[in-house]
Amino acid sequence: MERTFIILKPDAVQRGLVGEIIQRFERRGLKIVGMRFMQVDEALARRHYAVHESRPFFAGLIQYITSAPVVTMVVEGTNAIAVVRNTVGATKPAEAAPGTIRADFGLEIGRNLVHASDGPETAATEIALWFGEDLVNWPRAADPWIFE
Ligand code: RTP
Ligand code: MG
Repeated sequence: MERTFIILKPDAVQRGLVGEIIQRFERRGLKIVGMRFMQVDEALARRHYAVHESRPFFAGLIQYITSAPVVTMVVEGTNAIAVVRNTVGATKPAEAAPGTIRADFGLEIGRNLVHASDGPETAATEIALWFGEDLVNWPRAADPWIFE
């Protein structure tokens, strides 16, 4: 069982796609163990995207993620990290597979709607950074019908 971290970015919130996007993770079978609606400040944005600090798009990325509220989530499930990345789709919406969130709702890399952790180490770091211990362990009634 894995956990991974997701952000519904400002464009997802401004466009009224929060329910639509969360639904895709929910119906996939992933279990929500953390969720928050918040405005990201610059310090947190810089820490989250620190790996991209030297990239030319960094300033625009920080501006984007702090420009309006976001929804942050931690979800749990079998192979959750890869499953969520696959559900989100490729970074560039134009290259994302049909049926993925970025393909179905996006056009441009700088407005690609969702962030998802890209591996076990980043998932652990990002969950700690954004949620700390503020997660809920709960037995879901449907668990035996989703997890074998
Ligand atoms: P994310 O971290 O947001 O889940 O996206 P990702 O792993 O698919 O892509 P990553 O390479 O980590 O890039 C982080 C975010 O930076 C923006 N970006 N803009 N203009 C550009 O060339 C460019 N490259 C990346 C995107 O918003 C991307 O999601
Ligand atoms: Mg990334």
